[in-house]
Amino acid sequence: MLTVLLFGDVVGKIGRTALLKALPSLKAEYKPDLTIVNAENLAHGKGVTKSIIAELKDGGVDFFTSGNHIFANPKGVHDVWDDPELGNLLIRPANFPDGTAGVGESVLDLGGKKVLVVNLICQVFMREPYGNAFEAMEAILERHKGEKLDAIIVDLHGEASSERIAFGFHFDGRVSSVTGTHTHVPTADARILPKKTAYLTDIGMTGARVSVLGVKPEGPISRFVPGEAIPFEIPEEGAVDLNAVLITINDDGTAERIQQIQKIIE
Ligand SMILES: [Fe+2]
Ligand SMILES: [Fe+2]
Repeated sequence: MLTVLLFGDVVGKIGRTALLKALPSLKAEYKPDLTIVNAENLAHGKGVTKSIIAELKDGGVDFFTSGNHIFANPKGVHDVWDDPELGNLLIRPANFPDGTAGVGESVLDLGGKKVLVVNLICQVFMREPYGNAFEAMEAILERHKGEKLDAIIVDLHGEASSERIAFGFHFDGRVSSVTGTHTHVPTADARILPKKTAYLTDIGMTGARVSVLGVKPEGPISRFVPGEAIPFEIPEEGAVDLNAVLITINDDGTAERIQQIQKIIE
């Protein structure tokens, strides 16, 4: 049995602080073997810094996936990748254009158990032209064929529910879990698919509760209402919505259980 605790996009300092506050009790309660956070919005809502990744690692996060905003602070992400202790803890979507820095998959050794973590990004409603996540996943599975893996965990970073659900069914039985990130809104469809892959369209964010996707409402509202655009700002205080998902994986790599965790952190 392997238990994995996954967080979606953790947004800004308010999100990081709530995560660090909640993590000890979550870990005591659920005893995960592996805790993964999507890092794309950690630093001021976009990108990462080395000190933030180090702080979350010290706070109990084992590994980081990411998404379209990971290069928002290029120095920050390269500082992480250049660091001998942190460099191999952060991946970016595997289907970013060829030649992009970083890697999109990693095999973690958890006391002898091998876990392949894969990060992919979807194509529908995305501004940048990313590669096909389905083809990229096939190539990754082909590359690891014959390797003894105890679990395969996929963070599928995307906007459209249809694309992600189709992905889940397409790879059902071939990976242990497919859980989504990027929309910052949790979906209510956690389930074990017929061939025993754990699936959730989007985990949802850990970020300010009074916000539009983690940002003070007035900025996003101004993009939809005629008038002047108000800059995006991340709230510095207030309650935080914490969204996570707990997945239990059997010794044969199939998923036994998937459970959403939703808390309000004051
Ligand atoms: Fe995000
Ligand atoms: Fe994103």
